[in-house]
Amino acid sequence: MRAVVITQHGAPEVLRVQERPEQAPGPGEVGIEVAAAGINFADVMARQGLYPDAPKPPTVVGYEVAGTVSVVGKGVERFTAGDRVMAGTRFGGYAEKVNARETDVVALPDRLSFEQGAAIPVNYLTAYLGLVRFGSLQAGERVLVHAAAGGVGIAATQIAKAHGAEVFGTASPAKHDALRGFGVDRALDYTKKGWEKGLPKIDVVMDAVGGPSFRRSYNLLRPGGRLVCFGASSIVSGEKRDIVNAARTALRMPRFNLIKQMSQSKSVIGLNMLTLWDELGSLEPYMKALEEMIEDGTVDPVVAASFSFDKAPEAHRYIGERRNVGKVLLTP
Ligand SMILES: NC(=O)c1ccc[n+]([C@@H]2O[C@H](COP(=O)([O-])OP(=O)(O)OC[C@H]3O[C@@H](n4cnc5c(N)ncnc54)[C@H](OP(=O)(O)O)[C@@H]3O)[C@@H](O)[C@H]2O)c1
Repeated sequence: MRAVVITQHGAPEVLRVQERPEQAPGPGEVGIEVAAAGINFADVMARQGLYPDAPKPPTVVGYEVAGTVSVVGKGVERFTAGDRVMAGTRFGGYAEKVNARETDVVALPDRLSFEQGAAIPVNYLTAYLGLVRFGSLQAGERVLVHAAAGGVGIAATQIAKAHGAEVFGTASPAKHDALRGFGVDRALDYTKKGWEKGLPKIDVVMDAVGGPSFRRSYNLLRPGGRLVCFGASSIVSGEKRDIVNAARTALRMPRFNLIKQMSQSKSVIGLNMLTLWDELGSLEPYMKALEEMIEDGTVDPVVAASFSFDKAPEAHRYIGERRNVGKVLLTP
C-alpha cells in the first residue's frame, strides 16, 4: 500500500509517497480503506523534528482517518465491511489502509463527507476535553480561543457556542470574516501589539500558541478562570527546525507560581491527547462524547483544503504558512 513517509526531519519535501507492507487487522482491530487522513499541526512539528512524542523518521504519522471498513479482526462486533467510519490512529494515518482499535472507531453519518469525518477526531476531542471535561465550561461564560480559524479553533468555537458561551477568537486579520461566520462573537487581531488591552475578563482560555502567550492568557482570566495549555505552535518558525527560536520560545514559557494562583483563584490546565490516550489505552470514554456531538449537530467540520498524497509537501506548507481556515486533509 502507498503511504506518505517522513523520510527525515526537514522542509516539506522530506514527505514522500512510498510503498509500505500491508497488515491484517489484529484481534479487536478494524481494517479501514482510507478515503481521507487528517493533518494536524503536530505533524508539521514532527516533520521538523520539534515533536518529541513522534516516532523517529522514516515514519508515517497521522492521528486520524475516515474511510470504509474493509475487514475486521477477531472479536469486533460493532463494525462490518462496507461501514463508513472515522477513527483515531496512533500514527500511521497518512496511508491507504490502517488498522484501528474498535474502541477508537466511530460510525460516520451519511451527511458528512469522508473529508469532514477525518477532520473530527483530534480537533473535536481536544476542544471537548479542554473546554468541557477539564475546563468545566458553563453557559453564559466567556471563552477566548486562540488560532480560532484553525482546526481545533473552529471545533472549540462550535462546542463553546453549543454550551451557551460567548466566544472571543484570535486569528490573522484576513480570517476575521470567516471567524464571525463560525460563531465567534468578537474577532481579535493578535498580530497587533497590545491587542489584549481593555478586554473584559475571561472564564476559559484555549491556548496552544505557547511561549509568552500563556502568560498573557493567564492575565486575562477572572478569578475562577481556567487556562487550558495544549500546545506551542509559536516554537515553529519557517519550514525547517529553528533551534534558536524554539529554545527562545521555550524559555519564555511562564513558570506559574502556585501561591499566586491560589490567592488569585485561577487554574492552569495542561492537556495532551496522546498522554490521555496512553493512560486509558483507548479513546473510548471520550468517543461517546464525540458521537453525541455529531448526533446533536454541534460538530460541523470545516474543510480548508484537500491534497492528494503526492501533494503532501504542499499540504504541510499550506498550514505552516498559516493559509488554512479549517482543516487540511490528505486523500490517497
Ligand atoms: N495537546 C493536544 O492534545 C493537541 C491536540 C491537537 C492540537 N494541538 C495543538 O493545537 C494547535 C492547533 O492545532 P491545529 O492542528 O488545529 O492547527 P491549525 O490551528 O489548524 O493551524 C495552525 C494555525 O495556527 C496559527 N499559528 C500560530 N502560530 C503559528 C506558527 N508559528 N506557524 C504556523 N501557524 C501558526 C495560524 O493561524 P493564524 O493565521 O490565525 O495565526 C495557523 O493557521 C497546535 O499548537 C497543536 O499542536 C494540541
